[in-house]
Amino acid sequence: MNTKPSLQKAAVFHKFGGPEVVSLEDVAVPSLQESELLIQVKFSTVNSADCRIRSRNVPRGFGTILGLLYGFKEPKLKVLGLEVAGEVVATGAAVKGFRLKDRVLVNLGFGMGGHQEYVVVKEKSQVIKIPDEVSFEQAVASVFGGATALLYLRDKLLLKPNHKILITGAGGAVGSAAVQIALSMGAEVTAVCSTDKASLVGSFGVHKVIDYKKSDWKAQPQEYDAVFDTVGVFGVEDLIPWLSETGKAALAVADLPLNLKCFWFSLTHKRKVYAGAVSPRNSDLEALLSQIKNRQFDPVIGKVIPFSAIREAHQIADSGHKLGSVLLKMS
Ligand SMILES: NC(=O)c1ccc[n+]([C@@H]2O[C@H](COP(=O)([O-])OP(=O)(O)OC[C@H]3O[C@@H](n4cnc5c(N)ncnc54)[C@H](OP(=O)(O)O)[C@@H]3O)[C@@H](O)[C@H]2O)c1
Repeated sequence: MNTKPSLQKAAVFHKFGGPEVVSLEDVAVPSLQESELLIQVKFSTVNSADCRIRSRNVPRGFGTILGLLYGFKEPKLKVLGLEVAGEVVATGAAVKGFRLKDRVLVNLGFGMGGHQEYVVVKEKSQVIKIPDEVSFEQAVASVFGGATALLYLRDKLLLKPNHKILITGAGGAVGSAAVQIALSMGAEVTAVCSTDKASLVGSFGVHKVIDYKKSDWKAQPQEYDAVFDTVGVFGVEDLIPWLSETGKAALAVADLPLNLKCFWFSLTHKRKVYAGAVSPRNSDLEALLSQIKNRQFDPVIGKVIPFSAIREAHQIADSGHKLGSVLLKMS
């Protein structure tokens, strides 16, 4: 086994609440088992999932599931952070596929814990090597928005070349990834965003940008093969005029009653509406990094914030109006 530091800085929260509940503390670096890697984190993100868990603000009907996973009265999990990009600094004796200094991307999943200087992960987990052509920043910014977009567009909406798709929240982490990935799949994209983000979103090469601040766009439905709502502006009934006869929609934000309604609607109609969580596999993360390498996808990074100012990153992510991803620079 290789050497490892004993103490590190971690962003810890001991009660649910606003950004002020997060503080940097010295904590032990976890010990390394035979089949594990120690990774020095270079960049992480603060995203909408971190904010939802930190503040216990989830769509109606999901509070119990969140409580069971992360605690009801006080957080079971003390360190947020879904994804990290960094360098392997120690390996367990049984590790075969990774070496010191490998640049890696990790999706930590439900166990989280990316907001600290070092993470320990099993070799057989969601850890993949980052190609030389892809920066740490691009890699870490691709996961939350990119994987959600890829899985919805490819596996739920079954997006094909020349399909017409409407994407809301087109400047956010999920929306900006969805726009670029849909374009790479040959779709014709109409993107909905605010004035501030319209020029960036337009620069991706979309067919049309709708500035929701300047028009009552929802009053003028057009038919699409697919709709991807990353904001929560659509319910099931008001989607129908926006979908072709066999059109499909995906709602990234939906409370439990709406999830059930989508399920029943899709069982009983030609049009389909999907909701619910998606979770990527390693091959999906690899596909995203390949898209970055091939210049089909460049994850939008709205802001890079030093780890010591992590509360500022939480404030931006809390706003619901962030541009792309907010990154934490760990050292
Ligand atoms: N189901 C899943 O598996 C899954 C996975 C990931 C995320 N999500 C959910 O998806 C949502 C989006 O996540 P995200 O990370 O992309 O959030 P984000 O980065 O904060 O982006 C949200 C975007 O929505 C836009 N927006 C806000 N109000 C709007 C409105 N009234 N009309 C149109 N656009 C509006 C904002 O842009 P403007 O400033 O232009 O308004 C912002 O860019 C979150 O609620 C998250 O919890 C679900």
